[in-house]
Amino acid sequence: MTRIPLMAGNWKMNLDHLEAITVVQRLHWALQDAQFDYSQVEVAVLPPFTALRSVQTVTDADSMAIVYGAQDVSTHPAGAYTGEIAAEMLAKLGCRYVVVGHSERRQYHGETDQEVGEKARAALGGGMTPIICVGEALAIRKAGEHVAYTLAQIDGVYAELGPDLAAGTVVAYEPVWAIGTGEVATPADAQEVCGAIRQRLASLYGRDAAEGIRILYGGSVKSSNVASIMAEPDVDGGLVGGASLDPAEFAKICRFAEHIA
Ligand code: PGA
Repeated sequence: MTRIPLMAGNWKMNLDHLEAITVVQRLHWALQDAQFDYSQVEVAVLPPFTALRSVQTVTDADSMAIVYGAQDVSTHPAGAYTGEIAAEMLAKLGCRYVVVGHSERRQYHGETDQEVGEKARAALGGGMTPIICVGEALAIRKAGEHVAYTLAQIDGVYAELGPDLAAGTVVAYEPVWAIGTGEVATPADAQEVCGAIRQRLASLYGRDAAEGIRILYGGSVKSSNVASIMAEPDVDGGLVGGASLDPAEFAKICRFAEHIA
């Protein structure tokens, strides 16, 4: 089974809607200039909610192949949940992806695996693909518990999803100590955990389903380190934070295949 790699730019709380238009246009032009083949790598941006409508408009108007998604979603379909955004609203804006359970949401908003699983289910219910984030903090890695910890997160999140839904998910392994720190996991570190995640998905849902689920690595991905990480067999893409705010750099990351030695 061939998995088409996904490069997803997680903008976090950066770029207003006007800046978002500029960044998406520049990314599109950079990839166009390089005659980028979107059938080989899917390219997504994940703007703040306030920029989604603008990103939809600019990508539609110029028939761009860049897709987009949101950084979070409510577990609820509608109602008295002030400040929340429902899956249906995101689907209406043409979102293909929704990040759920990013470590910053787990850390600052106390999101649990169960809640992350409910969010993934909400995204799937809206016809979108959840990018389910997992990964360990530094102390856990130092204690050598990173695989067990991450797999427990996978178990907790996927407990909310049945086998039919699991196939429609993407996983992002993001060791917390590598996020925004400039400290990237080695390719072997990334493969160790991504491989273990795939094995766990295989034992939960069968080998075929697990082979079809894309597993991304995230944490200080840059054009200078992406190729070696992408060379690992169980890494199917990147969730890119800081480097995705620079369209020239993100375009280079999307072109990782050209710099695999
Ligand atoms: P970073 O962020 O690339 O800036 O480390 C990755 C992420 O948090 O998704």
